Amino acid sequence: MRQGGALAAFLDLAPAEESFRDAVLSGLTRRAKSIPCRFLYDERGSALFEEICELPEYYLTRTEIAILADCAGEIGALAGRHAQLIEFGSGASRKVRLLLDALEDPAAYVAIDISREPLRRAAEAVAADFPKVPVVAVCADYLQPLRLPPLPARGEGRRLGFFPGSTIGNFTPAAAVDFLAGCRRVIERGGAFLVGVDLKKAPALLHAAYNDRAGVTAQFNLNLLERINRELDADFDLDRFAHDASYNEAAGRIEIFIRSRADQIVTVAGRAIRFAEGERIHTEDSCKYTVAEFQRLAARSGFRPLRHWIDPAALFSVHLLGVA
Ligand code: AVJ
Repeated sequence: MRQGGALAAFLDLAPAEESFRDAVLSGLTRRAKSIPCRFLYDERGSALFEEICELPEYYLTRTEIAILADCAGEIGALAGRHAQLIEFGSGASRKVRLLLDALEDPAAYVAIDISREPLRRAAEAVAADFPKVPVVAVCADYLQPLRLPPLPARGEGRRLGFFPGSTIGNFTPAAAVDFLAGCRRVIERGGAFLVGVDLKKAPALLHAAYNDRAGVTAQFNLNLLERINRELDADFDLDRFAHDASYNEAAGRIEIFIRSRADQIVTVAGRAIRFAEGERIHTEDSCKYTVAEFQRLAARSGFRPLRHWIDPAALFSVHLLGVA
């Protein structure tokens, strides 16, 4: 008998540490400086993101949880018995519990995340709370083509992919189509994909969600510089950089940068990097979609929109997409 909290498997496919160094150096030596947003989620960044999810201005998390709580029964019925639940970017594995409660005898829960120790803790907690469900943790960058190990399976159970939180918004629309198509191949015929997508809305609400009064989003963003200081022997002075997030209405996305408050030179891994006053490092985009826009995007990746749910205030959407 498996001990409560024990994982069925922990698979480490994470990229070598050196890729952070390469990404930072190449991102900071470009004309338009930028660092991929996945590097925001080290141990401290993951903890700060969990704090963001509790902020009064950050409506996304609590709204999606309310939608999932309402539609979980329906999803459980649509997914059928013995489903293999596969979560891309599982974080604290909080929302997936609503699905695990609603699914009939799931054959497996597969948690995929890039942040190794938080992943281990979260997956162990799910294993402890759902002792009948085999839990497989996969430490991986799910942006790279992913090959899953053979998964615990039962009978005719189908795969149900889960990608909550509007993380899909971090991709450009073209990259989102490619990502969804890759997930479709992991999910396989007969399966389905449940995707949380933040909706377009009044720009003031969007602006507030990424510029919270307590300054947690700013800390989350600037933690990237602290991480570079910690891991790459750099000397960023945090007081000389600022969080900069705004809604680009024409593009339909929140654009997040770190802005230099001064002309300055920073040393990173032995290299001198110059910043002009006002120069910015792009750290994240968060695209917003209407229901129809997201359905068109999903169709381009080979999915068939099956159902969608939105909250009464039309802040957030959850889409169930089918693999034909
Ligand atoms: C995790 C990508 C969904 O875009 O809302 C929150 C990340 N960045 N506040 C988002 C984030 C700043 C978040 N996603």
